Amino acid sequence: MTSAFDAVASSFERFRILPDGVPQAIRASIFAAVHSSSAARILDLGAGTGRIGRTFVEAGDTYVGVDTSLAMLREFRDSTTKACLAQADGRRLPFRNGSFDVVLLMHVLSGTGDWQPMLNEVRRVCRPGGIVAVGRTASSEAGINVQLKHQLKMILQSMGIPWHRSQESHRQSLDWLKSLATRHVHSQVASWNHLGTAQEFISRHRSGARFAALLPDVQEQALQKLSAWATETLGSLENGLAEQRSFELDIFEF
Ligand SMILES: C[S@@+](CC[C@H](N)C(=O)[O-])C[C@H]1O[C@@H](n2cnc3c(N)ncnc32)[C@H](O)[C@@H]1O
Repeated sequence: MTSAFDAVASSFERFRILPDGVPQAIRASIFAAVHSSSAARILDLGAGTGRIGRTFVEAGDTYVGVDTSLAMLREFRDSTTKACLAQADGRRLPFRNGSFDVVLLMHVLSGTGDWQPMLNEVRRVCRPGGIVAVGRTASSEAGINVQLKHQLKMILQSMGIPWHRSQESHRQSLDWLKSLATRHVHSQVASWNHLGTAQEFISRHRSGARFAALLPDVQEQALQKLSAWATETLGSLENGLAEQRSFELDIFEF
C-alpha cells in the first residue's frame, strides 16, 4: 500500500504545527461530547504523524490510529512507543461493526474527493450512539493563506491541471454526515493569530501530499508564477501578514 503522504511524511509537521494547547483542547471537546468516560474506544482514521492523536495516546486513552501511509505512521511511532497503530485503508477498515465509541477524522476529508466509501466504513465501525468528530484548521477568508490558495488554484487551472478546492470535499462530506446524524454540534475549539508569509505558504505547499504528487516541472512553474503574483501583490515573499486561524470541530452522533 503506497500513499502520496509517504514522500512528505518527514516534513509534514514542520510546516503544520498546531499552537500549544490546541490538540488538548480538541481532546477535551471530544470527551465533553462522549457520554461515556475516558474508557471510550477511539479510532483515529488518517492519524498521520500523530500531530493530534499523540495527545490521546499520552493521556492513556483507548486509542487506535490507522493510516494508509506507513511513512506517516513511522513518524508517529518515532514520537511515542505507546501508540497502537496499524496501516489500513479507511475505505476497507479491518474492524468489526460497532467497534468504536468515537471515530476521529482530523484533516482527512479535505484531502480526498473520494470521501463516500470512507464515511460508509466510518459509520459501520462506529457503535450506535457513538460519535464521529471531523476537525480541520480554518483561515480567515481575507487572510493570506486563502488568497494564495485561490491564486494557486487559478494558476494550476490555467496550466490545464484540475485542482479541486479542498473545502468543497469537506463541505459535501459534512452535509452527508449531517443528513444522517441524530445530533450535530459545530464548535470552534481554539483560535489564534498566525503571522504568515508567501514564502511560508510556498514551502508548505512543496511538502503538501497532493501538490508534491504533481510533475516536478509543473510544481516549479506553478510556484514561480505564484511567487511573481505574491511579490507584485504583497510587496515581498517575506512580508509578514497576520491572519486569524481557528480549529473547527464538527461532532456527529449516530
Ligand atoms: C493531512 S494528514 C492529517 C493527519 C492527522 N490526522 C493530523 O491532523 O495531523 C491526512 C492523513 O490521512 C491519511 N489518509 C488519507 N486517505 C486515507 C485513507 N483512505 N485511509 C487511511 N488514511 C488515509 C493520509 O495518509 C494522511 O496521513
